[in-house]
Amino acid sequence: MGMTKATSPSSWRCGFHLMPPVGWLNDPNGLCQFRGVYHVFHQYSPAWPEPNAPRGWGHATSRDLVHWEHHGMVIAPDTDDETHGSYSGCAVVLTGAAADGGDALRLYYTGNVKEPGDYDYIRSGRRATQLMIETDDGFALGPKRVLMRNGDYPITCSCHVRDPKVWREGGAWWMILGARDLFDRGFVLVYRSDDGVAWAFHGQVRTRDDFGYMWECSDRIALDGREYLSFCPQGMEERPWACGLRDQAGYIPVPDGARLADAPVLDAATFRRWDAGFDFYAPQTFTDDAGRTILIGWMGLPEPPYASAPAGMDWCHCLTVPRVLSRAADGAITQAPAPELEALRGPERELEPGGALKLADHRADIVLAGVDEGTVLTLDGVLEVRCENGGVTLSFADAAAGEAGVGGGRARRSCAADGGRAVRDLRVLVDGSAVEVFADGGRIVFATRWFPRADELTVALAGACERARLWAMGDGMAATWGAA
Ligand code: FRU
Repeated sequence: MGMTKATSPSSWRCGFHLMPPVGWLNDPNGLCQFRGVYHVFHQYSPAWPEPNAPRGWGHATSRDLVHWEHHGMVIAPDTDDETHGSYSGCAVVLTGAAADGGDALRLYYTGNVKEPGDYDYIRSGRRATQLMIETDDGFALGPKRVLMRNGDYPITCSCHVRDPKVWREGGAWWMILGARDLFDRGFVLVYRSDDGVAWAFHGQVRTRDDFGYMWECSDRIALDGREYLSFCPQGMEERPWACGLRDQAGYIPVPDGARLADAPVLDAATFRRWDAGFDFYAPQTFTDDAGRTILIGWMGLPEPPYASAPAGMDWCHCLTVPRVLSRAADGAITQAPAPELEALRGPERELEPGGALKLADHRADIVLAGVDEGTVLTLDGVLEVRCENGGVTLSFADAAAGEAGVGGGRARRSCAADGGRAVRDLRVLVDGSAVEVFADGGRIVFATRWFPRADELTVALAGACERARLWAMGDGMAATWGAA
């Protein structure tokens, strides 16, 4: 394309949000800790912004969730079953199954094919094939094996069946696939297998009331013995809470006494969004060796009404930081940035209410305790994080500037605290063009992109706050830029 990395301000690059050195990223895929190494695969089109740039899996690894190395595109759409993309999927670890007696890894994903011709690509013209790859070390990938084709799904399915998530439970392997039926209702298919290779249809997970026309990126979460279905329903723009966005990401608790594998009917009224920010979709979870359930999301949207990559960028999108999930007593899931990120903190500084601090780089971890209604944290005089109306509001002061503004067309998002709870804590991670906000013990979370114009980061605090601490943050992504 003749573009160089210098075409966008380097201050927009991230130091602890995973992003590829060049090209387009979307969903996190194949998340796992395998042989002691964290692997994050992701949807990747390295040739972006070339039109129709091939979509495969990118790969990044880390030993600490902080310092990442990027290995480029490792699953390419190079067979007849994935001509239009090696789409999203997952990883599972097979204990002791490798040739050396150690663990082996299996990657499951969807091959996407659009047949040439005059099709609607919903009921005809599209193939969705489930594939699997094995590897003994996480790097040298074995051959691609086809597990299921469209003819293997129930006849009520449209062509849209994708994003396998696999887990082990009760001596069997289970797979869920997000799907759209012929009546334009989103749902999840459940498959069962003894060996993880031959799969038998087991059931369907639906909501009692219709909830969108397609469910993408379904995931099964188990916390303290309770299960949740995480998924991304599409067709939600008319819902009062949807901020007009077609594509949403959230979860529904599996009813007491039921198992997701048994295909329960879920209550759509209990759907809770993962994130109230501008840029969040397609999250995936995994359980690490310490038993933590960790979520990573895509800080982007399939059809954002605002800028994802202002003109001249040769890369697009990043992932959220790893978020550790916990189950609160009321069943809500709380999210906290992985504590490993604190390794990037520089010296601690105090911020006084009414005061401001300047940092040389656009990277900071800001922790506020004892906040109250009217507490406002302002970044670069433009992005406000405000405690108000029993919740938290994120707003761009120059929103009227549209795409020319720091928010690139983003304006305002709010999230109320649960059941009249008072918000007392606030944490803001600033990382180049990525900002994540965690409040009320991780019940309120916002992910947003922004495109700051200044080289320095200015953090100002107003209103009540018992203690405000701030750390400049280091760069965990240096090895990734080296890969460019
Ligand atoms: C979600 C999604 C998935 C699909 C992938 C393709 O963002 O549409 O359903 O597998 O992205 O890149």
